Amino acid sequence: MFFSVDYEKCNQDSLCSLVCPAKIIEMQDQGPVAIDGAEEACIRCGHCVAICPEAALQLDFLAPESCLPIDDKLQLSVDHVEHFLRSRRSIRAYRQKSVPKAVLEQVLAIASSAPTGSNRQPVKWMVVHEKDKVQAVAGHVIDWMQSVQANQPELAEMFNMARLIGAWENGIDRICRDASHLLFTYTSKEVRNGSTDCHTAIAYLELALPSFNLGSCWAGYVNFAASNWPPLADFLGFSVDFMCQGAVMVGYPKFDYKRIPKRNAPDIIYK
Ligand SMILES: Cc1cc2nc3c(=O)[nH]c(=O)nc-3n(C[C@H](O)[C@H](O)[C@H](O)COP(=O)(O)O)c2cc1C
Repeated sequence: MFFSVDYEKCNQDSLCSLVCPAKIIEMQDQGPVAIDGAEEACIRCGHCVAICPEAALQLDFLAPESCLPIDDKLQLSVDHVEHFLRSRRSIRAYRQKSVPKAVLEQVLAIASSAPTGSNRQPVKWMVVHEKDKVQAVAGHVIDWMQSVQANQPELAEMFNMARLIGAWENGIDRICRDASHLLFTYTSKEVRNGSTDCHTAIAYLELALPSFNLGSCWAGYVNFAASNWPPLADFLGFSVDFMCQGAVMVGYPKFDYKRIPKRNAPDIIYK
């Protein structure tokens, strides 16, 4: 059954009905009941199961026992949150050490809990795990930059491509920063707002990595080239049905930061 309630356990607090974003749970005398058409309208966010203090409700894809309990002892203080968020840095110097796939998968599982529009969860990940493949990607980006230099010199100038190509020719990788791994997010082309979901997932990823002693940096040129340079899309195996939405380098940081650089104060208006 799609929606089932143990009415012996239910305390009739209506919380499931109140938090349901699709408003498909109605309170009746015996307790919560799914309205007609609920299965089709449900966005499968699991809020009804997650909010119930009695674990009285379950969906056919989600039992309360399968959900991680919320542990108040693990909630962060404001000081911890501020320090945690402000101390994340874009890492551009990596140790030459591969990250086990199991560790990457653990971080990606956390990153995959980022919010997505209507809980569609359309984000897909591609991990370029072998270092020589990461270097090959950087090589493709340099090829793309050389073609931009030849065909769109203003664009090449705007993005300082001459210096990046020059560095590459001198053995310095300013594209993937000699990182051990590259991670891409992508979606089916049919997904609307897929880029927002992917960027949010990357933000979660970047925030989760330091707890695993890992660091990351957006690979903006790689991301741009993946959508604009067919040889790179071919190398990565992106078919025409899929769209690359973001790329990050990942690896073990070589250095530790000792302080947090200042950022602009928030630019706020009230209406
Ligand atoms: C969309 C995006 C693209 C970026 N592309 C690159 C890149 O190609 N290379 C790089 O070294 N840093 C890149 N960065 C990292 C930014 O330069 C970095 O976030 C910024 O300097 C602030 O530093 P912080 O992340 O340590 O606070 C990118 C960041 C974003 C959000």
